[in-house]
Amino acid sequence: MIDTRSANSNDTDSHAKKRRSAEAALRFVAADSVLGVGTGSTVGCFIEALAARPGLIRAAVSSSEATSRQLRAAGIEILDLNDVTALPVYIDGADEATRTRQLIKGGGGALTREKIVAAAADRFICIIDDGKLVETLGAFPLPIEVIPMARALVARMIETRGARAVWRRGFVTDNGNHILDVHGLSIRDPLALERELGEITGVVTVGLFAARPADVLLVGTATGTEAI
Ligand code: 5RP
Repeated sequence: MIDTRSANSNDTDSHAKKRRSAEAALRFVAADSVLGVGTGSTVGCFIEALAARPGLIRAAVSSSEATSRQLRAAGIEILDLNDVTALPVYIDGADEATRTRQLIKGGGGALTREKIVAAAADRFICIIDDGKLVETLGAFPLPIEVIPMARALVARMIETRGARAVWRRGFVTDNGNHILDVHGLSIRDPLALERELGEITGVVTVGLFAARPADVLLVGTATGTEAI
């Protein structure tokens, strides 16, 4: 039998930690700036915090359709990245992070646009709860966005490396592509793996953020926020 009471209390704890890290990110946001905004439930907490400070930012560059909807609901204007010449800060969550601020992202399937906005930003502030802080990346299955016609080909190429690539059935990214979730990796050299997997024909984006890690990691804990 599932103990729903403890599951619910864990969810509540994790939500409170996400909210702490999200609120701590506000101090990195310059008034009247254009802000890059990521995707996910932690970012959802951050957008709630932004909504409570109307007029703080001028506009946002969004990393997904879901985030765009939340930002519009909060009364925040969205700009196309092509129309923005300076993006001082990008705020986003992650699925796993190391103390060297390398990340696995893409649990929400927005990894490609997230990587683009992170690349465009001067500073990437990553907000997580402490359950996501790891010694070695890879317990969380690594999301890889692929061109749909190459899905099985890419899965076979990954499986020759001793990992298991599972198609996220029924999910289509904002870019019209598919996601493979790669299980069984213990990622000793995130930068090398990001490059190696990124070279497989048909791969659009690998959910490793090692070449462009976070600049600051804000980790929500039971009592506050640790900045790394
Ligand atoms: C979406 C992401 C998210 O940042 C990641 O999945 C974390 O999400 P959450 O804050 O809901 O735990 O990479 O593609």
